[in-house]
Amino acid sequence: MTTMVLDAVNLKKHYTVRQGMMKQRATVKALDGASFQLFAGKTLAVVGESGCGKSTLARLLTLIEEPTDGELTIDGVDIKDFSKSDLKKMRQKVQMIFQNPYGSLNPRKKIGTILEEPLVINTRLSASERREKSMQLLQKVGLRTEHYHRFPHMFSGGQRQRIAIARALMLNPKVVVADEPVSALDVSVQAQVLNLMKDLQQDFGLAYVFISHGLSVVEHIADDVMVMYLGKMVEKGSRDKIFDSPVHPYTQALLSSTPFVDPTKRAERVKLKGELPSPLNPPRGCPFHQRCPIAEPECSESFPESIELAGRLVACRRAEESIAQFHRIKR
Ligand SMILES: Nc1ncnc2c1ncn2[C@@H]1O[C@H](COP(=O)(O)OP(=O)(O)O)[C@@H](O)[C@H]1O
Ligand SMILES: [Mg+2]
Repeated sequence: MTTMVLDAVNLKKHYTVRQGMMKQRATVKALDGASFQLFAGKTLAVVGESGCGKSTLARLLTLIEEPTDGELTIDGVDIKDFSKSDLKKMRQKVQMIFQNPYGSLNPRKKIGTILEEPLVINTRLSASERREKSMQLLQKVGLRTEHYHRFPHMFSGGQRQRIAIARALMLNPKVVVADEPVSALDVSVQAQVLNLMKDLQQDFGLAYVFISHGLSVVEHIADDVMVMYLGKMVEKGSRDKIFDSPVHPYTQALLSSTPFVDPTKRAERVKLKGELPSPLNPPRGCPFHQRCPIAEPECSESFPESIELAGRLVACRRAEESIAQFHRIKR
């Protein structure tokens, strides 16, 4: 039996900002409706260009910020029902790994101290128990016990990300939210860190929310893929559905700009018109319509409901036409 560890229903986060000469109030819909379920041992990839709301989603899932609207259940508990003491306990269940392995580790602290900090704050483990746990995780992430006494600057980017992963696992979380965890690393190192994450997932039955701005990185780690555009979820389905037969024109464009090792997987380029609009002043209707090769007039009027089509969810009123179009382009 698999356990559902995250259940998000129409999650939203809106920010009020002041802009312009007159400092008028404006609303940034950083995240405007994300729904998914995540099960133990599985990986949901969240993919979309910079500014589409990925990190905002990460902050909601890790309980750093509260959603403006929507529902979130973590390991069976609705966050609305949390008491203060629950919050502390629930925060331990969802841990985060950040993009920048240089900025996320305190340069003045030794690795051992960095790893044990979560235990000092959240558990009553003795010093020797804490040490044992951090030694164990150092080895699990492919580092050596003598690294315990070293400082972050003595490590490469890949090694630092291993340390950040070890730290995220110190409290035995159910879910790890990884916000572009390999984007700052050399391509040669990326695969090693991804493989490590896969091994750890198996060992500990972890669920991952794996955030990425591109599709290529997630191909081998994702079970499901959720594609976002300007705060909106535009398509969501199994990895195979998204990679083999993307339906939303935006997913198709993302995929066609993705470099793949396997040349049979390459699709012809779907060129996007124009620039990513500002989230402060998004276009009416479907936020993608101005750049969409198959938009029709209604697309500028309202954002379509997600529908189930060809085995995935897609928010596009021209989804049927889009499927036909992509096959044609592919051949
Ligand atoms: N605290 C905040 N206040 C105002 N706007 C924000 C805040 N955090 C994020 N945003 C805006 O929300 C949008 C989504 O941001 P973010 O979640 O960081 O996107 P991504 O991680 O996909 O690049 C961006 O336009 C960003 O400027
Ligand atoms: Mg981000």
